[in-house]
Amino acid sequence: MDAISGLSSHAVTLRHDLHRHPELLFQVERTARVVRDELDRLGISWRACAGTGTIAELRPDARGQRIALRADLDALPLTELTGLPWASTIPGRMHACGHDGHTASLLAAAGYLQLRAGELPGPVRLIFQPAEEGGHGALRMIEDGALEGVAAIYGYHNWPPLPFGRAACAPGPIFASNGEWTATITGRGGHASSPHLCIDPILAGAHFVTLVQQIVSRQIPPQEAAVVTVTCFHGGTADNIIPETVELVGTVRAATTTRRDELAGRVQAVLQAACSASGAQARFDYRPCYPATVNHPQPAAAAGRALTRLLGVGALVSDGLPVMAAEDFGYYLAHVPGCFILLGSGVAGRPIESCHSPRFDFNDDLIPVVVRLWAELAGIPADDAHPGGRTTPASHSR
Ligand code: NI
Repeated sequence: MDAISGLSSHAVTLRHDLHRHPELLFQVERTARVVRDELDRLGISWRACAGTGTIAELRPDARGQRIALRADLDALPLTELTGLPWASTIPGRMHACGHDGHTASLLAAAGYLQLRAGELPGPVRLIFQPAEEGGHGALRMIEDGALEGVAAIYGYHNWPPLPFGRAACAPGPIFASNGEWTATITGRGGHASSPHLCIDPILAGAHFVTLVQQIVSRQIPPQEAAVVTVTCFHGGTADNIIPETVELVGTVRAATTTRRDELAGRVQAVLQAACSASGAQARFDYRPCYPATVNHPQPAAAAGRALTRLLGVGALVSDGLPVMAAEDFGYYLAHVPGCFILLGSGVAGRPIESCHSPRFDFNDDLIPVVVRLWAELAGIPADDAHPGGRTTPASHSR
């Protein structure tokens, strides 16, 4: 068994252990312990960062440029339905986004880079980050020095809609910027038989839901990706009561952070207009979440070359970008150049279980691919050492 195969099969065992014990946001204490124990075992020194985050460095004194490789640690609040032997042991918590695999594959890469540390042209920083799922963990890591001295950063997300052997790392936006809003419409409640004595907030809300659809279709250039979705509409208690208030909740997403904030402004304007038609009052609360994840041209080109070497010509795809989900890797890319990569993990003949599905599981076949990819980007062409260990070319995996 070659080094990468050995490290990868050990990482699969680690991954299944992490999968059994999912933890949320910054409360990833056990996961942090697994990461730190493994780094100790590999002889790589580390320090805590942002509490449960960890940063470690290989060849810190090397003269070349320092690159950073990032994995996220946290799971999601849902109950697993896979029935797998390594399924979550905790009801209501699950590694449904594959961050267990991101962490295990970075640990496998750490083992490989440590084996070949003498060949590294520059320092390689390993970033294990908590609270990607809505907790702005990346921001806390940056505030605690995770990017100090870093010339370029790379990260990846496993991506079930793309077949295994395909990847995306195009320059420009790869994940959207997102924000959420709450609209509270206050009318005048009363008897349903006397609508003329009331101001009906349900009707105002209905107008708002319809009118808000024209923002993306009529006010945003058709070439640009943008989403406005109403996801909750709460109001009313009985058939004979016009309620006093209704509450609507929704999301705005766009390829740029500026456009996202503009969308929120337009949603608010539509809300005001829909309410003023009947005299209802509107309140709008907007909570911007993650910035767009925007890849820088040079690191994206470097990632593209490495992926083409590993997966074959034709492995790179660019349609369907940006993905309109959001990812806090964008914070890193706002500070230093870098690239976030989507690695296809779909298996031919099996239904796609997307990230955040209760039937999702990380595809462990990605682990050796990630080890080779990170080694390439760190300046060690992994395939030269193991020409027989090439990943199946994309053309064979459709
Ligand atoms: Ni994720």
